[in-house]
Amino acid sequence: MRHFLSLKDFTKNEILEMITLAQKIKSEAKAKNFVPYMEKQTLGMIFEKSSTRTRVSFETGIYQLGGIGLFLSSNDIQLGRGEPMKDTARVISRMVDMVMIRTFEQSQLEEFAKYSKVPVINGLTDSFHPVQVMTDYLTMLEFGIQNPIVAYVGDGNNMTHSWLMLAAKLGFELRIATPKGYECDKKIVAEALQIAKESGAKISFGTDPKTAVEGSNVVTTDTWVSMGQEDEKEERMKAFDGYIVDEYLMSLAQKDAIFLHCLPAYRDYEVSEVIFEKHADEIFTEAENRLHAQKGIMVWLDQQRDK
Ligand code: CP
Ligand code: NVA
Repeated sequence: MRHFLSLKDFTKNEILEMITLAQKIKSEAKAKNFVPYMEKQTLGMIFEKSSTRTRVSFETGIYQLGGIGLFLSSNDIQLGRGEPMKDTARVISRMVDMVMIRTFEQSQLEEFAKYSKVPVINGLTDSFHPVQVMTDYLTMLEFGIQNPIVAYVGDGNNMTHSWLMLAAKLGFELRIATPKGYECDKKIVAEALQIAKESGAKISFGTDPKTAVEGSNVVTTDTWVSMGQEDEKEERMKAFDGYIVDEYLMSLAQKDAIFLHCLPAYRDYEVSEVIFEKHADEIFTEAENRLHAQKGIMVWLDQQRDK
C-alpha cells in the first residue's frame, strides 16, 4: 500500500505513470465514458482548512470513478475538539477505502498515514501541495510545454516546495525568486537538490523576479498570505512589494510562455488583473485538471494495493 504525502516518495516513472493514467481517464471522461475504476469505494476527505477546488475535485472525482466522497470538516468531527490524529486515523480508515487530508503540519498528515489502514493523500499541508503540482504538470503538457523552464515568483511556501520536488524528480529547470526572509525551507531545498543531482534538474534561487522569468516558458506564483498566515498579512504585503507578475515581468518570458496559478488568486497583489485575464484559459484549465489529475492519483494508489 502506498500513500501520496510528498512527491519525494515517488520515482520519476511512478509520477509519469500517474500522469499517463490521468490523461487516459480525462479523455474517457470527455467522451462521457466514466469507467468505474473504484466502484463502491469511499473517499474520506478531512479538511482542517478551507477549500473550493480540492473539495469539489476530489468529491466529483471519486463519484465519477464509481465511488463516493465523504466531506469531513474538522469543525464538525471530533478531531476539531481534540481527538488525536492517530485515533481519527484508526477509526476512519476502518470504514473508508482511501483518505484525503488537508491540514497544517506535514507531521500531522504523516501521523494519520502511519495509523491508517488505507492510502492517504495530501490535499495540502503547510509544507506541500503535491496534487496541485501534478495537475500543473498535466496542464503544462496539454499546453505543449515539452522542456519546461519554470519561473516561480513569490513566497517560498507549500507550492514552491512542491515545485522543487516535481522539478527535482522529473529533471527540469526551475528558477525561484523569493524576497529575503521568505525563502523555501532549507531542509526541503537540501533534499530537492540531492534528488536533482540524479535527475539533472537545474534549480536556482534568487531574489530578483526578472532574472527568474527571463527566457522561461512557464511563469507561476501563489498567494503571498497562505492559510494560517493571516496575522502576517500587513508585513507580508510590504515584503512582497515588487514581486507582482505583471505585463512587464511576463514580457521577459518566452513569447508563448504560459502562466499558471493554483488559485485562489489575489488580483493586483501576486498577479495583475491584466495578466490573470490574459492567461485565464491556462489558469482555468489548470483548475479543471485538478479533477483529472487526482483521479489518476487515486486510481494509481488503488492499483498499488493489489500488487
Ligand atoms: N488550489 C487549491 O488547492 O484550491 P482550494 O484551496 O480552493 O482547494
Ligand atoms: N499557499 C496557499 C495555497 C492555496 C491553495 C495556501 O497554503 O494557502
